[in-house]
Amino acid sequence: MDVTLRIERALENAISAGESPSAPSGLAAAMRYAVFPAGHRIRPRIALGVAAACRDDTPALSDAAAAAIELLHCASLVHDDLPAFDGASTRRGKPSVHRAFGEPLAVLAGDALIVLAFETLARAGGDRPDRLAPLILAVGRAVGVPYGICAGQAWECESSVDLSAYQRAKTGALFAGAAAAGAIAAGYTPSQWRLFGERLGEAYQVADDICDLVADPEDIGKPVGQDAINARPNAARTLGIEGAKKWLAELMSAAAETIPPCPGRDALQAMVRAEGRKILPKSVVERAA
Ligand code: IPE
Ligand code: IPE
Ligand code: MG
Ligand code: MG
Repeated sequence: MDVTLRIERALENAISAGESPSAPSGLAAAMRYAVFPAGHRIRPRIALGVAAACRDDTPALSDAAAAAIELLHCASLVHDDLPAFDGASTRRGKPSVHRAFGEPLAVLAGDALIVLAFETLARAGGDRPDRLAPLILAVGRAVGVPYGICAGQAWECESSVDLSAYQRAKTGALFAGAAAAGAIAAGYTPSQWRLFGERLGEAYQVADDICDLVADPEDIGKPVGQDAINARPNAARTLGIEGAKKWLAELMSAAAETIPPCPGRDALQAMVRAEGRKILPKSVVERAA
């Protein structure tokens, strides 16, 4: 089955499992709104790409891993947009969740998506209990402390921030988790896969930083100039646009080189190169030039 279909179907299954006529309808609506329609879905594509490269012998488990990673990503965006963090009014071309549903439901929708991600793994793990605990650990490491998104966002509360540590935790960790989860779901050990995901994640954040500087908000569906307004480290401001583009290209080829030995290495390398060609929207490449 097509990867996009697999991802959307797995997310639909997960989100509908959280819906019930006896539960408050606003929370379920806010969760669905946070997940659909799709954003880039790059993290679940990485999870399924790695699983496929490792022969994907248990597709139901890799689908659940991909869905869990994307649910956590969506949760992180809901919380990141809150006034307590970036105070962003739009996301994916529509009002951010707190703008559409209010702050209390945005906090709860993010929380519930996080819980749903782990429930999704647990539901799919029944047939492969040997892979379930490593999956939960790899996914937890990507979003919690000391290495995950919580740590990354918490750097924003410190008086001095190391750009690389900040980006590794805020963005790289979930990419590393996506790669590790795809490998574990297919029965491979995750350790060698993390570096691949980290490099991809770092590249992705550099691309996002370039967009924050030069994109048109209409093209990327979210506000720009936020990093300067919120005094956040931004690779393109630190290195200049040209320097950031060069670093981005280096990180993408380093990621492709880092793919560990596996049956589908060539296909995965081709996928990474294809992602690299579209990582910056065309309009951003033109504006950056
Ligand atoms: C946005 O990620 C947040 C970053 C860490 C750069 P995406 O650009 O993947 O967001 P969506 O899923 O497409 O909205
Ligand atoms: C978001 O980073 C990373 C998260 C952990 C959600 P940014 O704040 O740079 O991402 P955008 O620009 O809001 O998507
Ligand atoms: Mg932020
Ligand atoms: Mg933000």
